[in-house]
Amino acid sequence: MNVVLLGPPGAGKGTLAVQLAQCLGVLHLSTGDLLRDEVARGTPLGRQAEGYMKRGELVPDEVVLAMVKERVNGERGVLLDGFPRTLAQARGLEAFLKVDKVVYLAISKEEVVRRLSSRRVCTRCGAVFNLVTQPPQQAERCDRCQGPLAVRPDDRPEVVARRYEVYERDSAPLVDYYRRQGLLVEVNAAQSPEAVRAQARAALSQ
Ligand code: AP5
Repeated sequence: MNVVLLGPPGAGKGTLAVQLAQCLGVLHLSTGDLLRDEVARGTPLGRQAEGYMKRGELVPDEVVLAMVKERVNGERGVLLDGFPRTLAQARGLEAFLKVDKVVYLAISKEEVVRRLSSRRVCTRCGAVFNLVTQPPQQAERCDRCQGPLAVRPDDRPEVVARRYEVYERDSAPLVDYYRRQGLLVEVNAAQSPEAVRAQARAALSQ
């Protein structure tokens, strides 16, 4: 089964994807994580992507499409987190993967701004926390690997504002695009992580 997770920045795509991919027995592919890894390793792709990401802009479609195509090759099922993000990416994806369902995480702008202002990520293993809703057991330390926690560089308020504008302009039209194809299931993302997961699983099993 190939599933797309769609929703604004901070909706909880990554948080849901980690466990949902395990339940479904498919590969979790986050284009944000893949790009951050390329940036951290200083690869040519990372150097190309870094400026866009710092400004809260989208990395060019052809770069992201090539990256995803290479990763999904030979997989029996994938959960795509943060991809596609433009109509061009959605159409490009159709050339090499059949999407079975699209889970849309519906949530207000106020709530995502609140969540992103208190997000912390592990600088070593990438685990995600929230000082308010999902706090680490020890202040500023990762529960999983004890690595130091930090604010993601693109979670600064001015970049969050830009990311949200870009989402509304380029990615929100995908909601109707997939609804028209009968693939969309809408999940209320303003609930606890457990409730979001249960609703997503129920929707996918129909
Ligand atoms: P990416 O990393 O994909 O960022 P995003 O889509 O903006 O999403 P986030 O990772 O910020 O949020 P999320 O929805 O995963 O929420 P999370 O689970 O962390 O992309 C980053 C950049 O890379 C882009 O700006 C762009 O430059 C580039 N890029 C990536 N993909 C691209 C593409 N396809 N094309 C072009 N460029 C691309 O949760 C947020 C917080 O809330 C956390 O603190 C979490 O603990 C908490 N939380 C989660 N769920 C809940 C809940 N149910 N209740 C309470 N708190 C919760």
